[in-house]
Amino acid sequence: MKLFFHFLLFCFFTLLFNTCSAGNVTYDGRSLIIDGQHKLIISAAIHYPRSVPGMWPGLIQKAKEGGVDAIESYVFWNGHELSPGKYNFEGRYDLVKFVKLVQQAGMYMILRIGPFVAAEWHYGGVPVWLHYVPGTVFRTDSEPFKYHMQKFMTLIVNLMKKEKLFASQGGPIILAQVENEYGTYYEKFYGEGAKRYSQWAAKMAVSQNIGVPWVMCWQEDAPDPVIDTCNSFYCDQFIPNSPKKPKIWTENWPGWFKTFGARDPHRPAEDIAFSVARFFQKGGSVQNYYMYHGGTNFGRTSGGPFVTTSYDYDAPIDEYGLPRFPKWGHLKELHRAIKLTEHALLKSKPTTLSLGPSQEADVYDDGSGVCAAFLSNVDNKTDMNVVFRNVSYHLPAWSVSILPDCKNVLFNTAKVGSQASVVKMVPEKLQPSVASQCKGLKTLKWDIFEENAGIWGVADFTRNGFVDHINTTKHATDYLWYTTSIIVGENEEFLKNGSHPVLLIESKGHALHAFVNQELQGSAFGNGSNASFKFENPISLKAGKNEIALLSMTMGLPSAGGFYEWAGAGLTSVKIQGLNNGTIDLSMSSWTYKIGLKGEHLRIHKPDRLNRVNWVSTSEPPKNQPLTWYKVVVDPPSGDEPVGLDMIHMGKGLVWLNGEEIGRYWPVKTSKHQECVQECDYRGKFFQEKCLTGCGEPTQRWYHVPRSWFKPSGNILVIFEEKGGDPTKITFSKRKISGLCSLIAEDPMAYKPKPTVHLKCPKNTSISNVKFASFGNPTGRCGSYSKGHCHDPNSTSVVKKVCLGKNECAIEVTEENFDKGLCPGTSKKLAVEAACS
Ligand code: GAL
Repeated sequence: MKLFFHFLLFCFFTLLFNTCSAGNVTYDGRSLIIDGQHKLIISAAIHYPRSVPGMWPGLIQKAKEGGVDAIESYVFWNGHELSPGKYNFEGRYDLVKFVKLVQQAGMYMILRIGPFVAAEWHYGGVPVWLHYVPGTVFRTDSEPFKYHMQKFMTLIVNLMKKEKLFASQGGPIILAQVENEYGTYYEKFYGEGAKRYSQWAAKMAVSQNIGVPWVMCWQEDAPDPVIDTCNSFYCDQFIPNSPKKPKIWTENWPGWFKTFGARDPHRPAEDIAFSVARFFQKGGSVQNYYMYHGGTNFGRTSGGPFVTTSYDYDAPIDEYGLPRFPKWGHLKELHRAIKLTEHALLKSKPTTLSLGPSQEADVYDDGSGVCAAFLSNVDNKTDMNVVFRNVSYHLPAWSVSILPDCKNVLFNTAKVGSQASVVKMVPEKLQPSVASQCKGLKTLKWDIFEENAGIWGVADFTRNGFVDHINTTKHATDYLWYTTSIIVGENEEFLKNGSHPVLLIESKGHALHAFVNQELQGSAFGNGSNASFKFENPISLKAGKNEIALLSMTMGLPSAGGFYEWAGAGLTSVKIQGLNNGTIDLSMSSWTYKIGLKGEHLRIHKPDRLNRVNWVSTSEPPKNQPLTWYKVVVDPPSGDEPVGLDMIHMGKGLVWLNGEEIGRYWPVKTSKHQECVQECDYRGKFFQEKCLTGCGEPTQRWYHVPRSWFKPSGNILVIFEEKGGDPTKITFSKRKISGLCSLIAEDPMAYKPKPTVHLKCPKNTSISNVKFASFGNPTGRCGSYSKGHCHDPNSTSVVKKVCLGKNECAIEVTEENFDKGLCPGTSKKLAVEAACS
């Protein structure tokens, strides 16, 4: 009786906390074995410092709702070990809290400790100070590197152990990773030290005794028991280095990252689903979306260089934490279908049957009635009808059908049943805080502080020639002033004929603003594929002494590549052309340097340090003025939608709210002469450049400001503008799902479930209007559907009757629900666009 009571108590608490206590984790050639059970795992990367603790529970929940079993994250060493032995595990870096939230959600955790991680994160996650520890070379057989790597790895492992977070201790962590893509991509750079290093890393990891398996991605010679894994857009053909190891896909990229000045990559939902279905069809066991929620590179954490502050990644959950439709919904349905095949997949070995030249079936049938089949068509153009077990199936090009009972198609990767959504950024003017409104101030009061163009305070040092930018700033700031002066004689021709000498600059990267006598003369910058650049601009010089002040900037430290930590930045040549003597070369002149800006140095973006400079108050802040700090006290935008700061009217710089670092802003436009797609053909192999949009548009207009950073009133927004903008046009924009769409074809052959249009508005909103509905042969895309020649005129009223005023609704796409006998011989669809409010 007592035992039974204890059992009930146990169940009660398990249910109450819904925690995921994984237990023993081992593996064989088929899959991970968790507590004696073979398992298929669908995992989702959410990097904890790329959102804020206030968002974590919601993101994890959305992943769970999306049919995901595990959350994966790298560990970000340079966010944790700020200087040797000085650690930070607070706020966005509260790793323990994050893992515990995953556990409380009843999910598993995959911890990719690295600690080299790449990830478009500055310096690939390795602390910058380590580069300056004598004798250190990153990621090779270098004693200081190995010493610090092991020290950090051990620290993280011990922290997880202390909190009982490994599955072996009853926690959620079922897998851990050491290093990242070293073997395949980077070993070649490091000669003999490379092999010694990778083998050492594997051994060092295993010796940590975490009780769960270790993985190394793209490490073909990963020694037992470490599992080598695959990262790619497709991993169905991947074979681990031992038949005793399961096939694991650590990075399936459902989109791609973006760099300033470049176009916006998208990966179609149909293709991602195809790749995942193929992976499980071909014996895959763990699949992780990198990223499932990309998030934000707050502050100066982005790498690259040139990776944008947004790390949205076109992921299933967008940067702001909203599900991205139809991607999120389509993958959710895929996950459901895969889960229904899990038992069959793990119970038997597949039989592969050819169904055509590029069509095949993999059948998992143990003869006992448990049977699942995957029918695939890898032809990238032609739809096919195939016959499987005497039944005919239609297989669209580049698709997989999942038959959890070897008979009925539950899911086809190319048929998107999920709704799509119309997402808007709704602007709201900056509002003065209630307190100032009470004092009668109806308009915003701006405080201004101007930086000097060049040395402020005491110069850091003077040198003949140039120093390397990164070696000088050590990433303490993005900014380094290179200043010199020249004397211009009265008799220079250009002074008489009104022409202008030309300033010629070469730089290893990343960006530059050139000032002469405090006036901005021009700017230049590199890009994500080539950080170096040239500057060539006419300048205004006067007779006598001219001050030349060049503001060199980094835009995120490199995050990967052989010996990436040695890549430099900053000026390599400065010349002036068009003087009486021709061209003068200033490269070896005496240059005086200043690291960073005065405002930065005084940390005037921090609420407790604001008074360290004399701000000048005005209701009309200067426009198009370089090197200007702006401060304004505002109220939060109304409502509870996620917020983006609209910086389209600003130039380039940094922005903070209440001392929290929003990040680098730069609405630089992409070239309108490049190629962009209107619609992406999901068929055929995907690659990063396949489906780009945003030609001629700002790379990043909105900058995510997490709601939890706002106070009810009196929020301090601080902006440092480098080259000039109009701060009065800054708005907070609220991200809203304003409409929903769905286009579903009828399928007279389908038994249950019948094809159905499902619409679901965000929480606390309902369907307020049906903007378009057509049962017939409508065409077009969400936002621009149009009727075809076949159309049931009652479509809108049918849909309205079912949906208006509801948070969600469903309509089966059958003739019974519409006009029976409409356009005989035409196969019909239902397209709906609805508004939510
Ligand atoms: C992979 C790398 C990840 C990330 C990804 C691109 O090669 O392992 O860390 O950089 O590329 O987003």
